[in-house]
Amino acid sequence: MQRATITGWGRCTPEGVVTNDELATVIDTSDEWIATRSGIRQRMVSHVDNSDMATVAGRHALAAAGMEASDLDYILVATCTPDRFIPAMACHVQAKLGAVHAAATDTNAGCTGFIYGLNLANGLIATGSARRILLIGSERLTAYLDLERRDTAVLFGDGAGAVILEATDGSDGIVSINVGSNGDLAGALTVEGAGSSWMDVPTPVRVVMDGREVFRNAVVGMAAAAEQALDEAGWTVDDIDLLIPHQANLRIIDATTKRLELEDHQVCVNIADYGNTSAASIPIALSEAIDQGRVAPGSKLVLVAFGAGLTWGATAIQWGERTEPEARSAAALPPSDRTGLQILVDRQNARPT
Ligand code: UT7
Repeated sequence: MQRATITGWGRCTPEGVVTNDELATVIDTSDEWIATRSGIRQRMVSHVDNSDMATVAGRHALAAAGMEASDLDYILVATCTPDRFIPAMACHVQAKLGAVHAAATDTNAGCTGFIYGLNLANGLIATGSARRILLIGSERLTAYLDLERRDTAVLFGDGAGAVILEATDGSDGIVSINVGSNGDLAGALTVEGAGSSWMDVPTPVRVVMDGREVFRNAVVGMAAAAEQALDEAGWTVDDIDLLIPHQANLRIIDATTKRLELEDHQVCVNIADYGNTSAASIPIALSEAIDQGRVAPGSKLVLVAFGAGLTWGATAIQWGERTEPEARSAAALPPSDRTGLQILVDRQNARPT
């Protein structure tokens, strides 16, 4: 059976930067608290639809793979913040890209969404159901924030990352992948007010999280999933060139690094710049790592995530030969006429009470 390998990559981050100090002008918090508890220094706030960010990330990934949108036969979007519940956000992306031959659907596994997406894409390629897949992790989490909930409002940000997956007969590609869930802990991280269960009890949309419960489970779950991916790939920790963990909290990343006995230079960390972008965090970090020359031909990568569900997943990927894009796209978001902070404040003022 053939497996999937990554042949294109790209990202899109909106221009609306909000620093911790700016946030502290509208929330009872401080740069010191946010930075020491989470490692976050700033986040980006989108002025456009989630599908617009996803489309720009997708265009960069297509160019990097040397592909046209019409070459795609599948678009898979990992998101928990789709533009709307119906249709799937992937359908909007398909239209915006002009990917006329592509099937399109979404997957929602919270912050583990990108790993779940890789798992699904790998299966589609293994069975021959699809040959050229665009997988995008894209989130507009700031849309769910309530600035009066300081425990969650300081943590999340917006952005998108994308990859192209194709079949390979070589030693490159997804060598192993595992995903799991524990729905008994669904209440530890949820969004109130959006979804059919809320129709009879109209409730403002907001993220509700038992941070300590998620933290405890993430510290154990991330390392366990990564170790399973290594075992199933026949690799050891010493084989890892780069660990790309989901960026939820610097302390969780540090604990995972320590459990796996990795050195800091073997781990991608960019949470300070973006906050937690859920399903987008791993493909954004992967795309940055390639641009920074941290991925070499044949590099052994481990990607690992943990999130709402609770869900987890990890994959061992051997990189192919190419680390330079086939071509570059000039795709970009239109400029914003408001600052990131203004967007957050305007939205808060418009919230139903
Ligand atoms: O992406 C996957 C899903 N998410 C995660 O993985 C997140 C996992 N959890 C975490 O990252 C951490 O639990 C948090 C960063 C969310 C919180 O850190 P913590 O060390 O667990 O803090 P805490 O929730 O125990 O709160 C400590 C104190 C509380 O005050 P008291 O009760 O000790 O007086 C909070 O009220 O910090 C207070 N607090 C704040 N203070 C200033 C909570 N939020 C804030 C805030 N600014 N933004």
